[in-house]
Amino acid sequence: MPEHPLSERELEALLDFYQAAGIDRFLEERPVDRFTLLSASEAGHAGPRTAGGGGHVADRVAGEGQGAAPTPIRQADSLSIPATSSRESAVIPDGAAVQSARERARTATNLQELHKALSEFEGCNLRLTAKNLVFADGNPDARIMFVGEAPGREEDTQGKPFVGRSGRLLDLMLAAIGLDRSSAYIANVVPWRPPGNRTPTPQETELCKPFIMRQIELADPELLVFLGAASAKSLLGVQEGIRRLRGRWMEYGLNGRTIACMATYHPAYLLRSPLEKRASWRDFLSLKARLDTLVS
Ligand code: URA
Repeated sequence: MPEHPLSERELEALLDFYQAAGIDRFLEERPVDRFTLLSASEAGHAGPRTAGGGGHVADRVAGEGQGAAPTPIRQADSLSIPATSSRESAVIPDGAAVQSARERARTATNLQELHKALSEFEGCNLRLTAKNLVFADGNPDARIMFVGEAPGREEDTQGKPFVGRSGRLLDLMLAAIGLDRSSAYIANVVPWRPPGNRTPTPQETELCKPFIMRQIELADPELLVFLGAASAKSLLGVQEGIRRLRGRWMEYGLNGRTIACMATYHPAYLLRSPLEKRASWRDFLSLKARLDTLVS
């Protein structure tokens, strides 16, 4: 390993910092000067190889050296973080962006259209750092829908909600009351992973809210379960903490009608606080009892 001016401890601290900042995938083995790549792609030709680039740049330019027209480099490909075009830049969220989110969500007449509308929505900057849009998993015709807060790393990689550690716990909890992903529909308030798994900002949540509200409306479940305080608070507009909210049947208002809903602990919280699984189990028994009353 080449000598490095930083000590091992300093390097570890730097890695910790990168991880906290959301840089948690190191797929390239050698450094790549992305500023050079970007200006080269904007000038319409491939730029010079970066020091020690060893072909990384060339690998991404179709036909380079064979006389073929160079393909502009998408920043996303080589960074393997954002699945967006290099020209897509951050936007300052404002009332107009929220209005545009509402309009797009409102005009979607089914879940496929909503998925498309969300994937084309450029108002939320989280899409710039996320690898994938995490729209939903499970059965959209299910009688019960679960809504979490935002995807984590594993969800971002697979493009599906609740597939990491907390998702595995959720699957066990579902199985305990006779459900699985063919009998439940699962989504999040925020469909893009916030960098480093940070909490979504209130602005990000507001921008994404019209989409999840429409998703609930279009999926039209008979029971709605909020996983954790964040989704309950943002969708019910309440301020109470999850301890007070959980386990109570409430009503989620939707265009003049209501859906029976309940908040329960987020599986990630249960992983950290296993003693709370007892309360969660009571919530799930209550869900099952309610579901059984629906079965016609
Ligand atoms: N936590 C969430 O709130 N949603 C996911 O999809 C995964 C973890």
